Amino acid sequence: MTETTTSRLRIDAARLLRRLEALAEIGAIEGGGCCRLALSDEDRHGRDLVVGWMRELGLAIRIDAIGNVFGFTPGWERRAPVMTGSHIDTVRTGGRYDGNYGVLAGLEVIETLHDARIAPPRPLAVAIFTNEEGARFQPDMLGSLVHVGGLSLAEAYAAQAVDGPALGAELARIGYLGEEQPGFVTPSAFVELHIEQGPILDAEGIAIGAVEHLQGISWQEISVTGQSNHAGTTPMRLRRDAGYVAAATAAFLHDLAEEMGGAQVCTVGRIELHPNLINVIAARAEFTADLRNTDEKLLLESEARLARFLTDIAARTSTKIETRGLARLEPVTFDRGVADLIERIAGELGNSVRRMISGAGHDAQMMARICPAAMIFVPSVKGISHNAAEYTTPADLAAGADVLLHTMLSLAARR
Ligand code: HGY
Ligand code: MN
Ligand code: MN
Repeated sequence: MTETTTSRLRIDAARLLRRLEALAEIGAIEGGGCCRLALSDEDRHGRDLVVGWMRELGLAIRIDAIGNVFGFTPGWERRAPVMTGSHIDTVRTGGRYDGNYGVLAGLEVIETLHDARIAPPRPLAVAIFTNEEGARFQPDMLGSLVHVGGLSLAEAYAAQAVDGPALGAELARIGYLGEEQPGFVTPSAFVELHIEQGPILDAEGIAIGAVEHLQGISWQEISVTGQSNHAGTTPMRLRRDAGYVAAATAAFLHDLAEEMGGAQVCTVGRIELHPNLINVIAARAEFTADLRNTDEKLLLESEARLARFLTDIAARTSTKIETRGLARLEPVTFDRGVADLIERIAGELGNSVRRMISGAGHDAQMMARICPAAMIFVPSVKGISHNAAEYTTPADLAAGADVLLHTMLSLAARR
């Protein structure tokens, strides 16, 4: 195949869309989204479907001890592959593109080259990483974190699901406790294609984001112990109201993010009260705090401000407050060369393109610890994600996959 014909190569958009549709059927929820929580039966069915497509394509399939699934083209054992991939676990109210798109576009790239009988100098790989979302087990990006040696298997197996079971038991139960040791393969480069999940590309009418940076993430679980009492007879001055502490902290964090401005975001996404009854002052509250910033110093400042607030409100309300870290990842700067390549290729393929920072966590931030890595974003309509209404147009999905195709081809041609 000549240089020109390769440069004219494009993915089969209809095939990619068909696979996205088929995968979205598994764990389908009202509104066209997906609920495939990590290591649930739905996750198993989704994995089985994608592994079946990998097998049909003749890929060598390897599964590691944390359940990460890898599909390789021939030669991966002799020469470090260029790897792409993402996740197919979703949040409970997930969309059909978050993660799924990156895995299926990676498969599509390999199938397009296979159909064109093009075997790049380097082998290629597509990965499905376990528990990227962190919605059922924490931390998020758990599978890729274990792959790069950032979390031991023992710690990962002990992670307890928000609904009870330990991660190790669930992994064995769904039949994806693989034999390969974590980190058994180090790619020559890693590129992840993902929807932006934010409003920028859509608002600016830009087709491709070349992602060069990814913000830091701090997740905590905060447990408050007060005293249940009668909602009608207990004077305010005598209350030890865990429900008030949870609500006041959520309001404090919202105001803190607005006061700090810039990239700072704070979210209280989960609150559970006990006994959670209309006429009983809550004895206990358990809630989560998700803090993020592109700047590590500012992220540390927001954590310190929260800690001071909790100390103060515990004293004011005579409650006991305990915190447990669930995830803590510093901001990541991706490989400049790979980000430059993505930007160049996007332009050469006729797309509008801009550099970006990712507000969401991704597996690429872990892979960046072991090889040159960067990401490609495509627009999310109205910036909506982690919501069944998540949507990206077929044209944008195809454009992103073509940028992935030619970025991987270029990286695979490197010595
Ligand atoms: O939370 C995140 O940023 C990702 O969706 N796990
Ligand atoms: Mn994702
Ligand atoms: Mn997500």
